[in-house]
Amino acid sequence: MQGLEFQKSPAPFTLVIFGATGDLTKKKLIPSLFALFRKGHIATFSIIGFARRSWTDEFFREEARKMITDAFGEAVEQNLVGVFLKNLSYVSSTFEDPDGYSRLKKQIPLHAVTIFYLSTPPEAYIPIVENLGTANLSQKGNSASRIIIEKPFGNDLNTARNLNNIILDHFTEQQIYRIDHYLGKETVQNIMVMRFGNGVYEPIWNNRYIHHVQITMSETIGIETRGNYYEQSGALRDIVQNHLLQLLCLVAMEPPSDLSADAVRNEKVKVLRALRPIENELVKTEYVGGQYSAGIVGGVSVNGYREENNVAENSPVETYAALRVFLDTWRWAGVPFFLRTGKRLSQRLTEISVQFKKPPLNLFHNWSSMPNANQLTLRIQPDEGMRFVFNSKIPGFHTYMRPVHMNFAYGSSFGEESPEAYERLLLDVMTGDSTLFTRTDEIEESWKFITLLHDGLEQNRDVGPFPYRAGSAGPGEAHVLLSAYNAKWRKL
Ligand code: BG6
Repeated sequence: MQGLEFQKSPAPFTLVIFGATGDLTKKKLIPSLFALFRKGHIATFSIIGFARRSWTDEFFREEARKMITDAFGEAVEQNLVGVFLKNLSYVSSTFEDPDGYSRLKKQIPLHAVTIFYLSTPPEAYIPIVENLGTANLSQKGNSASRIIIEKPFGNDLNTARNLNNIILDHFTEQQIYRIDHYLGKETVQNIMVMRFGNGVYEPIWNNRYIHHVQITMSETIGIETRGNYYEQSGALRDIVQNHLLQLLCLVAMEPPSDLSADAVRNEKVKVLRALRPIENELVKTEYVGGQYSAGIVGGVSVNGYREENNVAENSPVETYAALRVFLDTWRWAGVPFFLRTGKRLSQRLTEISVQFKKPPLNLFHNWSSMPNANQLTLRIQPDEGMRFVFNSKIPGFHTYMRPVHMNFAYGSSFGEESPEAYERLLLDVMTGDSTLFTRTDEIEESWKFITLLHDGLEQNRDVGPFPYRAGSAGPGEAHVLLSAYNAKWRKL
């Protein structure tokens, strides 16, 4: 709970990974833990893998060695890997079997902190939490016993509430860390520094000066092997409910009174509460869904969504979602926020672009039509950085103008790579800092918004999703959301 200013240096800990044989463990958790070890952030620890497959300690270590080599290449320091692997062990059990938890309990060393990481399919969350409670491993109220929960956290407001209630039977809010990996990204954390660590932005960060804001998260990948999951989820649940609404919170929140976890999250939840619902008939005007058809992405022919494995032939699931949202607050009254996300689009890009109002009068009307609006764009990924677009005189005897830009690029300014989001988030849990994790009320408010939208779509089944070609910028219909505001989506 210490907040963003806390010095990171964890006490000795045990991390139990439920779902240790899965993809997330392989691609993110073990590589990030090794990276923290290699950089000297963690020294005394045990990592216990817990999963159904009948692996031994030795086999888990060898698998983990491969995960590390896959992530860091053959040249990784094998001696160091060997030392790291000595801290790993494995418990083979189903998530439902109480005996597995008794064996786990015996294996947990007497370290100051114990962390349970739920990196499993969501159906396993409740049995694991209940078994941790029954085995008295959760130690409700003891902030040294912590639980990390991956998304999806519920499927709608009711399931999210139910899950929250069950977890809160066994753990207190301070012990719970719900992951949204976007909050671990360096550039996402920089939104607060940019806004509140500089004097120039805040005075103009409101409806007097800002015309609209665009938040885009576009991907070139499709649903990969996740057909079953995606059919239940779609873009609204997969991305909008969590990553996009979190970005919206950071852009729109009021300055917190300090940087403690609760002060920051109090401000974020106020943004979510101020979101004007898109419900009933409003889904027809404030939302556009899309679904990719076959096309070419990065020079490669790819299938349409309905041809993907484990996807229904006539699936109505959206792989693209665009929304126009309003925040009913003093600061933001009347300013539209346009949010969009999609799979199989032409570019991989996450950015927040703030478009300012034009000058009130065109003094240069003899030479130029109304000047372009100023734009401040925060690039979250790739090409992390910031760009400000403004108008400048073209050299010569007339007063012609054109837009030029000022650029800040993380790479060239700091010359070092940002840590992987999971490194930051894991280290925060180890040190007990929950600032970058979503609280019960944040989860419930964001689900409330998405659930009303889904209910509206159920009542208006004739609304999309509109097909769009893989490799394009999404369905053309999404332009309608902006045209009433005399604006256009930024180019991908
Ligand atoms: C995950 C979604 O939360 O974020 C995926 O489930 C998506 O569908 C991924 O591909 C994108 O994350 P990033 O960090 O690559 O932008």
